Amino acid sequence: MDRKTRNPQLATRNGTFPIEKLNEELKSVFKGGIIGREIIFFKSTTSTNDRAMEIGQQREDPEGIVVIADAQKHGKGRLGRRWISPPDVNLYFTVLLRPPFLPKEASILTLMAAVAVVSAIREYVGLNAGIKWPNDILVNGKKVSGILMEMKSDMDRINLVAIGIGVNVNMSLNVLTKDIKPLTTSLKEESGNYINRVKLLRKILAELEHSYKILLNGNKRALINEWLRLDSTIGNKVMVQRVAPFGQNRMDRDNVISGVAEGIDDDGQLIVRVASGALKKVNSGEVTILKNVSADFADSDKKGNV
Ligand code: BTN
Repeated sequence: MDRKTRNPQLATRNGTFPIEKLNEELKSVFKGGIIGREIIFFKSTTSTNDRAMEIGQQREDPEGIVVIADAQKHGKGRLGRRWISPPDVNLYFTVLLRPPFLPKEASILTLMAAVAVVSAIREYVGLNAGIKWPNDILVNGKKVSGILMEMKSDMDRINLVAIGIGVNVNMSLNVLTKDIKPLTTSLKEESGNYINRVKLLRKILAELEHSYKILLNGNKRALINEWLRLDSTIGNKVMVQRVAPFGQNRMDRDNVISGVAEGIDDDGQLIVRVASGALKKVNSGEVTILKNVSADFADSDKKGNV
């Protein structure tokens, strides 16, 4: 057992976890549920999102299938980045859904995933995780988990959504490159405990099931309120690098917005009050939290329009 382990309940005897037995273990938990009704496990694959998309397109009913890998050779992050995916230590999985929503409503699913991961970390690991818009999961200001949603849709109907979730569970930070090391962490690093990946996954899937049912029952606002409760972006001065249209530099002036993050709308767009007092909405991008602004400043002189 690792020297730093403080809670033996969370660890197995040798600190490794029977992730290959996941399929069997989860079968008993998800009788009658949606998410995790079929688990497809790969010891190693390119990217669980890519594999899930392939599998989902061959299935009549892909809803609830979970594709998980112990390692990824080409783990994908948001904005074309790489997701470091070494074996034996982390969680890399993709949940397939075919929700009866319009394509423009799909971003609520990434908020749903963020709520599920943060709730699971808080409850199972006991760390005070929070969300940085749109769906970075932070612990002590460093990223511990990320979500990449990909979708196939027609004009008015979602055909397939792949919600890819990566959680840095027991990874040592030594494997990280110098540029991301200061911004990244793992649950073991922050808690001092080896974490049982199977149990954490089971908890995340249970939280997803719970939140997805809330959405299917049409209660989007309840989910957004839960996201806001777990969020650490709103109320801060932020810089947002919007996703640049093809051929433009992301740091071009028009693609960068600075101001106070004031909330999110029903579609999950971030609402930022810029220096002129106007409110701007951002649907995709990268947020840097500049500083916490006092309630006085955030609440003062609310004027302008979106
Ligand atoms: C981010 O950049 O924050 C998103 C990271 C998403 C990583 C996960 S790991 C499982 C799934 N498969 C991938 O290739 N990416 C996602």
